[in-house]
Amino acid sequence: MSYTIDLHGKAALVTGAGRGIGQSIALALAEAGADIAVAEIKAELAADTVAQVAALGRSAKAYAVDVSDFTAVHAMLDVVHKDFGHLDIVVNNAGITKDTLLVRMGEEDWDAVLRINLKGAFNCIHGAAKIMMKQRSGRIVNIASIIGLIGNAGQANYAASKAGLIGLTKSAAKELASRGINVNAIAPGFIQTKMTDVLTDELKQAMMNLIPQKTLGLPADVAKAAVFLCSDLSNYITGQVLVVDGGMVM
Ligand SMILES: NC(=O)c1ccc[n+]([C@@H]2O[C@H](COP(=O)([O-])OP(=O)(O)OC[C@H]3O[C@@H](n4cnc5c(N)ncnc54)[C@H](O)[C@@H]3O)[C@@H](O)[C@H]2O)c1
Repeated sequence: MSYTIDLHGKAALVTGAGRGIGQSIALALAEAGADIAVAEIKAELAADTVAQVAALGRSAKAYAVDVSDFTAVHAMLDVVHKDFGHLDIVVNNAGITKDTLLVRMGEEDWDAVLRINLKGAFNCIHGAAKIMMKQRSGRIVNIASIIGLIGNAGQANYAASKAGLIGLTKSAAKELASRGINVNAIAPGFIQTKMTDVLTDELKQAMMNLIPQKTLGLPADVAKAAVFLCSDLSNYITGQVLVVDGGMVM
């Protein structure tokens, strides 16, 4: 029995891998030995991650894609499959916020968040599952949020998208378990990235007061959980939501 993590020979696709949590996950998977497909809407961000993965000695390629585009995602997955010869890991990380109070929320704000955060993950799972089912193996990790578990004033669209992602995770896990595919979610708490940089110091302090560990999370904290869920160490774990939040929600 080995308790070490070794992802050599695995091909991993990470969406929104150009910066923040997605980039950290891509680099952590590469450190563990995986080759990386960087699926990112912003080409210049993708190029940075590709360069950093290459510096770790792993293969990496950028794929310019909007995850909310069903046809584009499927076309991308075909190319990724051809480029790497297999697809072992998919991390659905791409996500956005468009925060405002429910009564002020426009249809556009609702649709954009649901389209990228929830439909984007469906698109990738739909395409990747077909490849993984033929392989009879695969790992899918969806980056949800504690907001999908507890809700948040000003984030009805985001909370709905992340709660939906948790439902999608559990349904996909049940459908795909017999084919050797594990599907899990990670629910991060307050993680220091460009997404949370925009919040006021007052709001950040209010968040901090709710965190028993009294420190904000780092992208690497989420990446460590993702590597675990993509490794052999989590073989018998599927359909779960792993909360990474310093104890905020328990
Ligand atoms: N930062 C936090 O505190 C926190 C907490 C819980 C969950 N999350 C989730 O973690 C994920 C990453 O968050 P982050 O803080 O790193 O955000 P971020 O904004 O720093 O990074 C998101 C990345 O996704 C890319 N992206 C956005 N829309 C895309 C699309 N349509 N197609 C492809 N790529 C797209 C962006 O270009 C960017 O590189 C998100 O799903 C977010 O909801 C973040």
